[in-house]
Amino acid sequence: MASVTVPVPPDSPVSRRAVRVQREEADRRARETHSDVFSPFVLPAGLTGPEVAPPSRRAARAPDILAADDANAPRRHARPRRFAGARTLALIVVGGIVLLGGAAGVTALMTGSTNEPAAGADHVVAEAPPPVSQLPVPVVEQTSISTDICAAPEVIAALEAGDDSAAIEAAGGAEWFRVAVAGGDASCIDLSDPARLWTVINKTRQYEPVDYWPADMMFPEGVRSLEGGSLRADASAALTSMVTAAREAGVGEIALLSGFRSFQSQMATYGRHVDSRGVEGADLVSARPGYSEHQSGLSGDVVPCSGPCGTLDDLAASPQGEWVEAHSWEHGWIVRYVDGATDVTGYLPEPWHLRYIGPELARAYHDGGWTSLEEFFGLPPAPGYVG
Ligand code: DAL
Ligand code: ZN
Repeated sequence: MASVTVPVPPDSPVSRRAVRVQREEADRRARETHSDVFSPFVLPAGLTGPEVAPPSRRAARAPDILAADDANAPRRHARPRRFAGARTLALIVVGGIVLLGGAAGVTALMTGSTNEPAAGADHVVAEAPPPVSQLPVPVVEQTSISTDICAAPEVIAALEAGDDSAAIEAAGGAEWFRVAVAGGDASCIDLSDPARLWTVINKTRQYEPVDYWPADMMFPEGVRSLEGGSLRADASAALTSMVTAAREAGVGEIALLSGFRSFQSQMATYGRHVDSRGVEGADLVSARPGYSEHQSGLSGDVVPCSGPCGTLDDLAASPQGEWVEAHSWEHGWIVRYVDGATDVTGYLPEPWHLRYIGPELARAYHDGGWTSLEEFFGLPPAPGYVG
């Protein structure tokens, strides 16, 4: 099982489990540390005092001193060495007292009743040990913790219910989810399932079945649909939300040129590109049938309108295009094929081609500055078709 070091995410079944693991580890280390300190020096019941040499003053100081020590020596070795030295010192002190001051001096020293010099031993000053509360706090290093989100029953239940957003939330949020998937620690998350928000379709990831057809399709309300295109219900509602927000922001109208395309209609689309550009040229701008995101019902090509609508190529330089680039993620969309990512995606930039991945993942994608779904989920680049 892979594991990575990541910040603890917001409260969730997975993060709560991760925190518990960390706490148990901290407790275990604390027990080890204190047992290292005290086990060789168990006092008889009722006895307190400097029979036990005080933990070294260095050890009673701030943990950062210990951390500095530990840069050069493993803690489990360094601490006993200090106490071995202290114990030797205690034996010398006790021996000296026996020689110089007799039993009374030893008793006084053992009971810790005084810091006054014992009779006949005025050069000896015993130092009382600090209370346990002043002993050094064990330094617990940040440990790598498992990100196995599939161990959380809430994640599995959400997946079984087909509620992708709930699965992401139960996994600890989109970034935690992403880290788990990219780290190979999310065996229950299938990036090949075209019905999931996180599905990744590219030149190396064909639909299974190849003529997959999404359920629950709708025409987006309040959006001009130039070719009568539909989208999956959640993507359709998100397009309505995005187009409405753009209009309210004063950037103008955004229309849907092309939404869902079946395997058969993608055959026609790709064929037209092959006719005009040849196979090599077509492959840079159009997916072969069975490989287009449009077949998932989660992608749409948008154009700017100002009265009449412009073309796909008009979008980038329009106010609508700038707004889409900056704000589409707020409605769950990403611009799937961006400038500079052709080596990864296999396509030339398409500022008009939006892909719905849901608001949670889209925020993580935006916040992380990602430029391809492949990199977002730790998949290999897909610049060309296999075979
Ligand atoms: N234009 C994109 C790559 C598609 O055909 O799906
Ligand atoms: Zn497209």
